[in-house]
Amino acid sequence: MLHVTKSFLPDLKEYVKYLEKIWGTHHLTNDGPFVKELEYKLGEFLEVENFIFVSNGTIALQLAIKALGLSGNILTTPFSYCATTNVLIWEGCTPIFVDIDPVSLTVNSAQIKSTAQLNSISGILTTHVYGNCGDLEKQELLSEEMGIPLIYDGAHAFGVKYKGKSIFNYGTVSTCSFHATKVFHTIEGGAVMTNDHKLADKIRGIRSFGHKNDDYFDIGINGKNSEFHAAMGLVNFDHFSKIKKHREGASLLYDSLLKEPIIKYLYNTELDRNYSYYPIIFTSEEILLHVTEKLHVNQIYPRRYFYPSLNNLPTVSGNVCINSEDISRRILCLPLSADITEHDIIKISSIIMSSL
Ligand SMILES: Cc1ncc(COP(=O)(O)O)c(C=O)c1O
Repeated sequence: MLHVTKSFLPDLKEYVKYLEKIWGTHHLTNDGPFVKELEYKLGEFLEVENFIFVSNGTIALQLAIKALGLSGNILTTPFSYCATTNVLIWEGCTPIFVDIDPVSLTVNSAQIKSTAQLNSISGILTTHVYGNCGDLEKQELLSEEMGIPLIYDGAHAFGVKYKGKSIFNYGTVSTCSFHATKVFHTIEGGAVMTNDHKLADKIRGIRSFGHKNDDYFDIGINGKNSEFHAAMGLVNFDHFSKIKKHREGASLLYDSLLKEPIIKYLYNTELDRNYSYYPIIFTSEEILLHVTEKLHVNQIYPRRYFYPSLNNLPTVSGNVCINSEDISRRILCLPLSADITEHDIIKISSIIMSSL
């Protein structure tokens, strides 16, 4: 059975070494030594001045929205995981959807500009979907001109570089998810990253109830993460470059085997990618459903990621986004993992090609 993803697990002995240390210190959570070590190492690796480890990628977004004091209309992408929209509504904001660029499937500055003219906007929250990106510099410029913060949901973008610089250096604040299905994971986990020290202090404070000992300075939440999760991150981090290499090889093999009428998803050429997903686009939803059925018969389970377009979620009343709605109906993420074999990829590709 092959699913869209398979969580990486290191050799158990590597993790047990950390568990033995936790048993020694009895420090299980609350800013323990492994959390601090992980924050230091990932902050360096991702080239950000403030790396704040939190309990998941959803709370990372909530903390960013709360710390920035966002309210009212927020421009956002309709092509992402539901968490990107949910957090806005959960935090009392109104999502205004900006349609995506039909190639990168991310929002670009021109569409932000035209949508923004129609509404009074207090912030932008968009996604580096599949670890890809739009015109980041122009988006930054636009957010400066508009005087509003720019949040990037970088749940898919661990380790991605744009023009040689960590992608998490763009925007006012970026978040990441370290969920078990991600290219780097801490079982559950996430991060908020920013080079704005004042904002980072605020986020650190509200991550932990808004108090330090007897000093109650803010209304906070519990967004902390534990030593056990940090330990998994420290072990997995040592495997990241090997995992990325394997996924790159698998993606290149898919590239060589899948041919027209499959439409390949194109990444920005200035990106150093992380190979987090392998999406393909069909010419129609009907063909997607037919191919999916053939794969299911062979116990291969790709995922309609992302479907539906978020503006069409039954829980959301969103404005029309033609490109996102169209792509959502035709895009499918194929299995990709740290140990997927050449044999698996050849089999998946040949089922797809022969069922077209
Ligand atoms: C784009 C995007 N944003 C946010 C999240 C939420 O992250 P988490 O599952 O760590 O809460 C996900 C999770 O898959 C995601 O894909």
